[in-house]
Amino acid sequence: MAKLTHYGHATFALETDDGTRLVIDPFFGDNPVCDVSVDDVEADFVLLTHGHYDHVADAIPLAKRTGATIIASFEIASFMESQGLAASPQHIGGGVTYPFGYVKMTAALHGGKVDLPGAEAFTTVPGGFLINLNSGQRFYHAGDTALLTDMQLLKGKVDVAVLPIGDRFTMGPDDAVTAVEFIEPSVVIPCHYNTWPPIEQDPEAFKAAVGDRAQVEIMTSGGTFEF
Ligand code: NI
Ligand code: MN
Repeated sequence: MAKLTHYGHATFALETDDGTRLVIDPFFGDNPVCDVSVDDVEADFVLLTHGHYDHVADAIPLAKRTGATIIASFEIASFMESQGLAASPQHIGGGVTYPFGYVKMTAALHGGKVDLPGAEAFTTVPGGFLINLNSGQRFYHAGDTALLTDMQLLKGKVDVAVLPIGDRFTMGPDDAVTAVEFIEPSVVIPCHYNTWPPIEQDPEAFKAAVGDRAQVEIMTSGGTFEF
C-alpha cells in the first residue's frame, strides 16, 4: 500500500510501501489551510511541479534539513543546485528511474516564474508528475494546469489522479470532469481549491459531476488515503 497525505492546496506526501517518502509541492508555513510545520515533515525526495510560490515555498528548508533530493524541471533543479541542494533535473516527457519507481514529467499549461529569492533568472515550463511506483500503483499529480488534450495520452496509465479544480489559475470543476473523462483514473482527488476566496469551489458538487466515471476522494488537510 502507498499512503498519501494531503496538506491542503496542492501539497501532498506519498509514502511508498518500502517507506520512501515523497513530498510534492511543499507549501506549509504560509498555507492558510495547513497547520503542519515543515519542520515536522520528513522527505527522501521533494518533487516540484513548477516554480510558483504556493508550490515551492518550503522546498529549500525541507530539502536542507532532510537531505532530500529535489526532482524538478531542469531550470528549477539548476536553481536548487545553486543553493547547495541535491537535485535531479528532468523535463516534460522525460522519465527517470529512482529507487522507488519511475517518474515522468507531464505537460501542464501554466505560468513559468520561479518565485524564490535569487531565482529571478530561472523560468521554466510547468509540469505534472506521473509516478509509477515499484509496487505497481500509478499516481498522477497534474500540477497547476489548464485542461489539456494531451491528458488523453494518460488514459489507462493512472490509478490515482490529483487534479486542480479551483478555476481562475487552473482548470475549474467542469474542465476537471473532462480531464477525468480523458484519463479514466480509478480515483480522483481534487486539489488547489478553497485555499483562498478566489479559488473557492464545492468539492461535493465536483464529486457529483464526476458521477460514476471515477471514485472521488475529497481529502481534508491532514487527511490520508491509502491505495
Ligand atoms: Ni501555479
Ligand atoms: Mn498554484
